[in-house]
Amino acid sequence: MTWFMVALVLVVAAAVILRWRRPAWYWLTFGVTLATLRVLVRYASVMDACGLTVPPSRWRLALARLANRPVPQSRPPRILRIHPTRTGLVLRLGLRPGQDAFDVAAASDRLRHSFSLYGVTSRELRSGVVEVRMTGYDVLKRVQMPARTDNGLMRVPVALREDGSVHYRDYRAVPHGLTLGATESGKSVYQRNLVAGLAAMDVALVGIDCKQGVELFPLARRFSALADNPDTALDLLEALVSHMADVYQLIRSQQCISVAIPDAEIAADIWDLPADLRPVPVVVLVDEVAELALFATKDEEKRRDRIITALVRLAQLGRAAGIYLEICGQRFGAELGKSITMLRSQLTGRTAHRVNDETSANMAFADISPDAVLAAVQIPTDMRGVAIAGDSSGGWARIRAPHTSLREAVNICNKHADRVPDLPALAAFRPAVAPSLPACAPLSKTAPATA
Ligand SMILES: Nc1ncnc2c1ncn2[C@@H]1O[C@H](COP(=O)(O)OP(=O)(O)O)[C@@H](O)[C@H]1O
Ligand SMILES: [Mg+2]
Repeated sequence: MTWFMVALVLVVAAAVILRWRRPAWYWLTFGVTLATLRVLVRYASVMDACGLTVPPSRWRLALARLANRPVPQSRPPRILRIHPTRTGLVLRLGLRPGQDAFDVAAASDRLRHSFSLYGVTSRELRSGVVEVRMTGYDVLKRVQMPARTDNGLMRVPVALREDGSVHYRDYRAVPHGLTLGATESGKSVYQRNLVAGLAAMDVALVGIDCKQGVELFPLARRFSALADNPDTALDLLEALVSHMADVYQLIRSQQCISVAIPDAEIAADIWDLPADLRPVPVVVLVDEVAELALFATKDEEKRRDRIITALVRLAQLGRAAGIYLEICGQRFGAELGKSITMLRSQLTGRTAHRVNDETSANMAFADISPDAVLAAVQIPTDMRGVAIAGDSSGGWARIRAPHTSLREAVNICNKHADRVPDLPALAAFRPAVAPSLPACAPLSKTAPATA
């Protein structure tokens, strides 16, 4: 008996410590079983308390009266499936007549408290069926991506969503993206995660980093072209525009539409071309875009206009040629000059990290969803890396990318350095990388630095 008591105390102590220090492990060991039991046992009473039951139908009342039975009780939605996941539970509910998905969404906060879970979100799967996703702990506090993700062609698992699912950056569905956020809010870390994800794919990476290249140049070995100042950026963007024209010529030469060719085989973008002819897709990453749009002199103004024109052309026509833009900045509004709002309207995928004012959040979401604007302004300062990701369909989610350090990203890029494709149009901008980087001498405060 004493041994049993000791073992019990040890198990409880282990559970408490895990829950406090390692919520993800606690969930996998104890949490998932306890939460499943709690949900199943309390289901009917919680649904009743949350106002999600419907009174018995007339024919059930009539049957009860005929059979002289007690009056039947109100019924909650039917549980079609309960499915434990790495971070929580997924419940599939069949609604009763008279209920709608909005009822469940409106009660999600009450459900969260009643089932003692961390977060509850719901969405309609099809008419009459609602999926309720519950998380057992704060999954964004310490982001751990699942080992297996559903990667596809040009689909990068880049962050974790609040409901525990993976957030993908799918370039074929959403070709161009805009990432906004105040300084130190996590934009560059998000972009670094994208680069690390893309590094293993057959894609050419092009970087423009006018912060003297501090973010992207360490990853140079996986890049086909890099620019660290507006002059090089202009030449690079114009080279990309001419590359785009070449790709369109190639697509046109392959089209040769005749009556015999089925509709699905007529090439209209690079993905319709046969694999051996298909040019590699190009992802253009721009960090701190305002550096490209600001100017002080007349000459710089001319350069700025050419840069923005090239970006607008790439955004308008690039998708079918497999050129995708990923633009990061602190603000991206009309104050950066003419054509900026036109460029912004082409950037469908919107992500906003913490912003300091509503106008900055409006630049990302005003034309998509007012709720998302509010959510972006409310991101706390101590949760760097948390962002709101939206798309033009009005949906949005709170996400956070894993904290990939620059060293981890460099290692991934070096590992895939042999994947850099051969793009003659961009050869002039290929970063010169020494076969092995010289070791940097540690900076010392006492000894004078030597050049
Ligand atoms: N996803 C994240 N998880 C944890 N910490 C993060 C995350 N993203 C950013 N940070 C922290 O915030 C700091 C600033 O991020 P950074 O991406 O350089 O900001 P920005 O480019 O917006 O100025 C990073 O050094 C890191 O410590
Ligand atoms: Mg940055």
